[in-house]
Amino acid sequence: MNAEGTVRSIFVTGLKNAHAIENHALSIIKPQVSRIENYPEDATRLDQHIHKTETQIARLNQLLSDFAEDRSALKDVALSLTSATAATGQTVAADEILKYSFANFAFEQVEIAASRSLLTVAEQGGFSASSTALRANLDEKEKDGRLDRTTPVGCYLEVPLAEICRRNCKGLTE
Ligand SMILES: [Fe+2]
Repeated sequence: MNAEGTVRSIFVTGLKNAHAIENHALSIIKPQVSRIENYPEDATRLDQHIHKTETQIARLNQLLSDFAEDRSALKDVALSLTSATAATGQTVAADEILKYSFANFAFEQVEIAASRSLLTVAEQGGFSASSTALRANLDEKEKDGRLDRTTPVGCYLEVPLAEICRRNCKGLTE
């Protein structure tokens, strides 16, 4: 394989990995929505993130199509990951919202790392037509998963985790 083919192969593999990561994220977040219905603001934010993730997956699907990749194999990866995180149907204690926030925040960082590396490989390979979609995905992720150093534990989905902590403490003392 020549150098051009090697970069293309690395890029396509990166797209497939990013696709699997996004589907894994959905399998983590979707069960949370039904479990936190007592916290409608958080449920709404998670719902919005699910829609955003689906848009990001659609962009990756388009890029895979552009590179003539068969997406039928990707479904298997997604399905095998979702079975590990089935919803229990129980509602959650207040502190579980925090645990979800930590896990979601951490996972968003994995997505950011994957998106940044894809953009770099796209630049190396001269796949400039792919960069716009990858940049759109990365911009959304960096906004949702930014580490805001003015708050003690960062920020997830544009809400400082400190605010969630305070709200939960308030709920426990009322
Ligand atoms: Fe995400």
